[in-house]
Amino acid sequence: MADLRLACVVGARPNFMKMAPLLEALRAYPCVEVVLVHTGQHYDENLSDVFFDELGMKRPDVHLEAGSGSHGQQAARVLERFEAVLEEAIAAGRRFDRVVVVGDVNSTMAAALAAAKLQIPVAHVEAGLRSFDRSMPEEINRIVTDTLADLLLVSEPSGMVNLRREGHPPEQLHLVGNVMIDTLRRLLPQARRSTILDACGLRPGGYGVITLHRPGNVDQAAALAPILGVLADASRRLPLVFPVHPRTAQRIKQFGLAEELGRAAGLVQLPPLGYLDFLALTSQARLIVTDSGGLQEESTALAVPCLTMRPNTERPITVEQGTSTLVGSDPLMLRGAIEEVLDGRYKQGRCPELWDGRAAPRIAEVLATSAAA
Ligand code: UD1
Repeated sequence: MADLRLACVVGARPNFMKMAPLLEALRAYPCVEVVLVHTGQHYDENLSDVFFDELGMKRPDVHLEAGSGSHGQQAARVLERFEAVLEEAIAAGRRFDRVVVVGDVNSTMAAALAAAKLQIPVAHVEAGLRSFDRSMPEEINRIVTDTLADLLLVSEPSGMVNLRREGHPPEQLHLVGNVMIDTLRRLLPQARRSTILDACGLRPGGYGVITLHRPGNVDQAAALAPILGVLADASRRLPLVFPVHPRTAQRIKQFGLAEELGRAAGLVQLPPLGYLDFLALTSQARLIVTDSGGLQEESTALAVPCLTMRPNTERPITVEQGTSTLVGSDPLMLRGAIEEVLDGRYKQGRCPELWDGRAAPRIAEVLATSAAA
């Protein structure tokens, strides 16, 4: 029997690329048994299934099928169903020694809560990040998850500072680097073989990539319409490719913006893409415009200018050392920053320490050692 039984939880798209390298690294420890749980927060083929294939991840052992809904409904379903899984294991004499959660989505927080209530220790990968903006659902998820976790695996120094300030004892904190960048470095050669640039009529270095899905940018027509206006304009100077998140697609339709967007000849809309096609696009882009958390980090690792459509960031290293600039939801700032990039006046960044493709083995070691302690 394994010395350490882990339940590793994933739920939404940004979780998969963080968990995949960790599962791989844990294979080096035969004393560790891993049960992979998918909450089902994301369930579409192109937001979920494609990642398991491309990242070479094992299929989930348990599927909670929580699905969409309000934040309360989504979290409640994960809480109820994951608690049942944990309790069943206890009843069968196979109690989990630890639950491992990644990132900051609703599934992360709900799974941590279910575990903590049953006094099962929680490890949080990507702990300590703070935007200090509680209007963001992810900020609430981060605070709750870190409060409940007793092993905090941190991707950048700001996370260590935040967690110390919140009173976590030093022995719980581990600066391990960025596990998502492990996946990026591993799969970059494969991504470069993608044919997506040709399919979209793009040449390396000759286009920009857009992603937008945050409520603050897409849920009100008054915010979304001017942003899309600037991007449509910019696409006359630089072709833009826009894989559209389902939430954003719904809003574009609802606000009657589809026709105008369709008229911007230089702006190609695509459905959400798999990991490899997306990395092929981002890694060869001249610029990225995004409100995603993960893409701020990926563009820094790729040394591609990133105009971040957020008023703040929980990942300050991407601005201080990396290639990101915060432009808020302000169309004028966005326009100015795009011009800076196109005129060659934009800053150069550097890749932060420990974003070296070896974060997952460091985390696996912490997990395995914590069992022995
Ligand atoms: C979630 C995460 C966000 C992350 C994003 C990446 C939270 C609070 N937010 O936001 O941090 O950056 O994932 O994509 O957890 N939908 C589908 N198919 C799916 C899943 C969702 O069509 O497989 C649609 C549904 O209409 C749903 C909407 O997308 O209402 C939003 O999905 P949800 O999981 O609630 O949040 P995201 O906006 O995807």
